[in-house]
Amino acid sequence: MRVLSYMFRLMQWAVATYDTAFGYVSAHGAPLLDLLDPQPDERVIDLGCGTGVMTIEIAARGAEVLGLDGSLEMVNAARSEHPHLSFAVGDAHTFTTSERYDAVFSNSALHWMARDPSAVISRVHAALRPGGRFVAEMGGAGNCAELIAAVQTAWRVFGLPEPELPWYFPTPAEYATRLEEAGFVVRLMEYFDRPTRLADGPDGAADWVRLFAPELIAEVPPEIAGPLLDRVNELAAPALRRESGWMADYVRLRFAAVRKPGGDELVQPPAPHAPPTPNVPPAPHAPPPPHVPPAPHAPPPPHVPPAPHAPPPPHVPPAPDSPQVHHHAPHVPSDLQA
Ligand SMILES: C[S@@+](CC[C@H](N)C(=O)[O-])C[C@H]1O[C@@H](n2cnc3c(N)ncnc32)[C@H](O)[C@@H]1O
Repeated sequence: MRVLSYMFRLMQWAVATYDTAFGYVSAHGAPLLDLLDPQPDERVIDLGCGTGVMTIEIAARGAEVLGLDGSLEMVNAARSEHPHLSFAVGDAHTFTTSERYDAVFSNSALHWMARDPSAVISRVHAALRPGGRFVAEMGGAGNCAELIAAVQTAWRVFGLPEPELPWYFPTPAEYATRLEEAGFVVRLMEYFDRPTRLADGPDGAADWVRLFAPELIAEVPPEIAGPLLDRVNELAAPALRRESGWMADYVRLRFAAVRKPGGDELVQPPAPHAPPTPNVPPAPHAPPPPHVPPAPHAPPPPHVPPAPHAPPPPHVPPAPDSPQVHHHAPHVPSDLQA
């Protein structure tokens, strides 16, 4: 399955490049750390920990922290940089823990866990004690819209098939609904633009694609990769290139949710093909009936006996699966389409 291939591709990320040139991923995590407010006696999971840049910050506040990531390369890098901390390789969609944690933290990683976002949330729920916190920041709807539009347009100009994007960028309402359905109370949900300087990506949008969507490049004939990325830069430049350098059009969701007491029965992900609620459009506004004055001496209405065998109402087949209800493929909001 293609989405799974992203998982394996993540393992091939240029860990060193990621950690230095694009260190802004974690540099922007400080407010999130304050929101988590880890306490010395707490046990915390850093989900999608990468090289452990935020894991070490959580540990510095005295909490006992486990960094969890799907990429062996990332975990190896984290272990060698922070040998005194605990790290494990695990997929956020399926991980289990033998004991309950006080908090699950995640910075800039949930939008990569696109295969089944509700499964990730239910795994987090199961890992938390009742009252435990889920505090995270991720890409939100509209994230990198200019960058993505430039990619899509360049691919079209070169006659390539529409690129399949690996991310899941939900609206606040959508993600809050998923959290509530899984048994969380949403305490805070922020949705904001965060223009982000591509400080050490001199080739701007092209460098961004090379780092964050290398599988898209891997699928094009090698001889056109260079001109294709040049075109991405040309298309993105009017919106994103400033005199001072390139700015990525990031949009973030930052939230804090609390696991409700009990509710273990809610940890199972929803059935993959539960029938959706049919979309019933509201009835059009009916005009008021004309005023008819009563007849002064109207005769009583005739008695009409009920029909002895009224036919049953016609069968209405259920509507097809609604993409609002189940996301099995990476979700790209329609406003991101070029
Ligand atoms: C952009 S990095 C963020 C790393 C780190 N949280 C930070 O702030 O620097 C996203 C991380 O999510 C991890 N990841 C992506 N999908 C995952 C999955 N399904 N399960 C666990 N980790 C995953 C990647 O391997 C990568 O290390």
